Amino acid sequence: MKQACYTIESNLPLAPGVYRMCLVGDTSAITAGGQFVDVAIGGFFLRRPIAVQKWDSRSMHIVYKVVGKGTEVMSRMTPGQSLDVLTGLGNGFDAGACKASALIVSGGLGASPVFSLAKSLVEAGRKVEVIMGFNSAADVILADEFKALGASVDVVTMDGSCGLKGLVTDAMPSDGYDYFYTCGPKVMMKAVCAKASAPGEASLEERMGCGCGICYGCTCHTASGPKRVCADGPVFKKEEIIW
Ligand SMILES: Cc1cc2nc3c(=O)[nH]c(=O)nc-3n(C[C@H](O)[C@H](O)[C@H](O)COP(=O)(O)OP(=O)(O)OC[C@H]3O[C@@H](n4cnc5c(N)ncnc54)[C@H](O)[C@@H]3O)c2cc1C
Ligand code: FES
Repeated sequence: MKQACYTIESNLPLAPGVYRMCLVGDTSAITAGGQFVDVAIGGFFLRRPIAVQKWDSRSMHIVYKVVGKGTEVMSRMTPGQSLDVLTGLGNGFDAGACKASALIVSGGLGASPVFSLAKSLVEAGRKVEVIMGFNSAADVILADEFKALGASVDVVTMDGSCGLKGLVTDAMPSDGYDYFYTCGPKVMMKAVCAKASAPGEASLEERMGCGCGICYGCTCHTASGPKRVCADGPVFKKEEIIW
């Protein structure tokens, strides 16, 4: 984990209420897709945990939805402002667990944390199928960027305004992958884990205090006992998760 100051390079809308912020600064603590950062926002005691969409040696991108006061303040930040951020938090996805073909299933903003995972898998020569679920066409984010990586992409919307109409589980193949990864609403991930025909892992979300393993405020119950989502997760193997 590292604490540093970052300069906002851009902070632009991707979809209604959803923004992508590019932060320039030290990214050396980020090691895996699915890790998150903890953003300090002036006037708020607690930092806000947000997953890293992608990063390089100069900058990182985070994608966030305005749901409350903290993210609303973030959405009004402008290029040139600086932010105090903790980076390199959480374990991230285990890209090495997939040996040949990966199935990635995301729901809504869950598309962001799995983006760098998909990139690593494609770069490692794995076949990658991504099923992305959204409420409607207006909410679709990052689909073209996943396609540009070389992944096969299926978009599913609840109202049928883009891609297949229905739930991500309606689009899941019955086989053809040796490992799966999922990130999105809990109810969706539970259904994905139940339907998956291979081993896999899911990224959990809990309210956080310290964000770095000290306060135990984010503890969840797993098959191997209590675990901290921020430090032992947020990614857990399917068999560990007690829904
Ligand atoms: C590991 C992790 C990764 C996340 N990645 C993303 C992401 O990539 N994009 C994104 O839009 N959101 C992400 N979230 C959810 C994000 O942290 C919350 O939406 C955000 O903190 C809300 O802040 P707020 O001040 O706008 O809302 P408020 O409701 O005003 O927040 C009040 C308090 O509750 C906490 N809180 C509210 N909702 C959540 C939530 N869903 N999860 C955890 N804490 C919450 C806030 O951090 C704050 O401490 C992630 C959460 C976790 C735990
Ligand atoms: S938030 Fe403090 S231990 Fe996880």
